[in-house]
Amino acid sequence: MIPRNPHIANLSSGYLFPEISKRRNAFAKEHPEAKIISLGIGNTTEPLTAHVVEGLSSEVAALGTPAGYSGYGEDLGLTALRERIASAVYGGIVSPEEVFISDGAKCDIGRFQWLFGAGAAVAVQDPAYPVYVDGSVMIGAAGKTKADGSGYEGIAYMPCTAENGFFPDLSLIPRNGLVYFCSPNNPTGAVATKAQLKSLVDTAREKGCVILFDAAYSAYIRDPELPRSIFEIEGSRSCAIEINSFSKPIGFTGVRLGWSVVPKELAFADGTPVMKDWTRLMTTVFNGASNIAQKGGLASLDETGLAETRALTDYYLENARLIREALSLPNFAAAGVELYGGYNAPYIWARFPGRKSWDVFDRILRECHVVCTPGAGFGPAGESFIRFSSFGHREQVAEACARLGKLSL
Ligand code: MLT
Repeated sequence: MIPRNPHIANLSSGYLFPEISKRRNAFAKEHPEAKIISLGIGNTTEPLTAHVVEGLSSEVAALGTPAGYSGYGEDLGLTALRERIASAVYGGIVSPEEVFISDGAKCDIGRFQWLFGAGAAVAVQDPAYPVYVDGSVMIGAAGKTKADGSGYEGIAYMPCTAENGFFPDLSLIPRNGLVYFCSPNNPTGAVATKAQLKSLVDTAREKGCVILFDAAYSAYIRDPELPRSIFEIEGSRSCAIEINSFSKPIGFTGVRLGWSVVPKELAFADGTPVMKDWTRLMTTVFNGASNIAQKGGLASLDETGLAETRALTDYYLENARLIREALSLPNFAAAGVELYGGYNAPYIWARFPGRKSWDVFDRILRECHVVCTPGAGFGPAGESFIRFSSFGHREQVAEACARLGKLSL
């Protein structure tokens, strides 16, 4: 028989979110009467906005006509969409040729791991979005599991804790490696300042690293002092790639559309532009994002679409405020629960001192019938934390908050 891929076999456990669903489903089976509410996975819940629907449906209608039908689209994405992203999202600091349209941030992260290969050292913030670590394991870049089971020997974990303001010690970054950095952060909700990103960029340049900057939640930033893109930082064009998505700003989690920015100046050690190899990889293993999705994305970035995006992200930020309020109630305060995130970000990161994340997860599920995400699932530094997602219908979020207020801790 065909041998099992040893890199896949090296994965320490199932992917976090299916594991949570498994526990939720087991509980629902035991308690069919329970009305379970999810504040777990960051999955958008509110309907697509009218103008975006118009963009999507105009393309659907056109595809049904001889004149409007199109097969495969432009390899790297609709030129009009690449131009709109460069101007509307980046205010012209990146050029349309540097914008590569994709089917989402997660898929691009996987493909970048493939691009850089097993030989590149890897550094991640700890805690981190699980795809950074699991994807690195799958391509063989992570090495063996540590003896104490707390991660992989070949990955540099950079703890992001309350004590360091959720910004890591950059001296942990290995030379000539790939540094995953997410801001606004999933899961901690922390947003790096310009000064912090400048130190990250300076370190990456000095150590010959590439920063894979995950900006999937940038539309949640309200503070004008906070950077929305790594390309606002001087020097970043020679050391960073930015990955972004239409999922969290306008609810395209199911529609699927994203993009990556690969600057012209970014090059490998032998001088080959990263953009050249990325183009080769994308045109080989990816056939372009859906033409329908791209028309929806285009609509979301004109004046009306941007106003709708603002309203939608405001809605989830208000949910975040309500969740923070609930987690500040006397039962949480008495247990010493500390709250982080939830401003300029859709995630609230709560520390339950002296408790294990999965225990708190189970208790909240059993007592409140609310699903959250155990911090330990995001890495060793996530132990004792719980992540609450603000994606949800308002009445469900309000109900979950009322139940949390009665949780015995
Ligand atoms: C999360 O809950 O961390 C994310 O929504 C999952 C994802 O975007 O893939």
